[in-house]
Amino acid sequence: MEQITHQYLDRWEKLATFAWYPELRNYTLDIAYKLLVGVDCASQSQLGEWYKIWVDGLFTLPINLPWTNFGKALRCRKLLLAEIEKIVRQRQETGNSYQDVLELLLQAEDEEGKRLSLNELKDQLLTLLFAGHETLTSALASLCLLLVQNPEVLATARSEQQQLGVDTPLNAENLKQMTYLEQVLKEVMRLVPPVGGGFREVIQPCEFNGFHIPQGWSVLYQVGKTHKDESVYNHPEAFDPERFSPQRAEDKPKPFSYIPFGGGVRECLGKEFAKLEMKIFAALLLRHYHWELLPEQNLEMIMVPTPHPQDGLKVSFHKLSS
Ligand code: HEM
Repeated sequence: MEQITHQYLDRWEKLATFAWYPELRNYTLDIAYKLLVGVDCASQSQLGEWYKIWVDGLFTLPINLPWTNFGKALRCRKLLLAEIEKIVRQRQETGNSYQDVLELLLQAEDEEGKRLSLNELKDQLLTLLFAGHETLTSALASLCLLLVQNPEVLATARSEQQQLGVDTPLNAENLKQMTYLEQVLKEVMRLVPPVGGGFREVIQPCEFNGFHIPQGWSVLYQVGKTHKDESVYNHPEAFDPERFSPQRAEDKPKPFSYIPFGGGVRECLGKEFAKLEMKIFAALLLRHYHWELLPEQNLEMIMVPTPHPQDGLKVSFHKLSS
């Protein structure tokens, strides 16, 4: 993760002005493909474009015609699955062992020693590769925007990095010491949660706030609404990382008050992966770089499929003088 982050930071310094959101998409896609299936520079192939078209068709009317978003999405899904099949077959042919998720899935056995079929493998990998980059792109874009809009928070986060030593290599120990940065990341995902909500099936009839909910119904939990609940958060509309300081810990009194990764047994499988990637990205960015919003751009958020600024977050980007 660190190596790919350095490559992108160097690239952005050279570009100097650019739209950050599409760049962040390539960055998170490259990390997901490298760490999950061992493929380098995925964004330089057509994979990125196919994912984008597939995702754009996720929340549309399911009419499968060549010109509808849904039809285009289905075609790209097929192309992605074919590409994933190639990766799986190549891996099976090499016979070498790798340290990535594909290897874990290839080796996984159930209680009877049965392994995943090729179709199951492909389906799992498609989900992981999608979940592993789409949400993170949104979270990172919100982080970059909120930091530049809140210079005091940016200064405090930068000063934490300076205290830890901007040239000290990242390791498990100093990542753990970035407690203010943790609060910032947590607050970014409270205010602009990448996933709007999720469904649960009612497995036994129950009462909620005086309403009877029958068995078999689907209920939707809303992340954004939960995170703006005034009975939990002080001035929920404000960007205030201090709300997660040990003294205030606003999310602690009530269970399930902070749910960007969902909750319960089906909580996000990639939560730690995501938190680590966000922290590495933010730490290296804060240590060495400065960015400003370019004028005359629309910063309003488009909420579907995941929140992102309308004009792609156009910035100028420079290295800090040491
Ligand atoms: C900021 C980044 C991320 C956010 C906000 C996020 C959010 C979520 C949410 C809300 C759910 C539904 C959980 C539930 O229903 O309780 C979920 C599920 C899932 N996520 Fe993530 N996710 C992120 C990153 C990732 C990454 C990096 C991966 C993989 C490497 C990943 C893989 C998954 C998978 C496989 C599930 C389905 C889990 C299951 O149904 O058992 N996610 N995620």
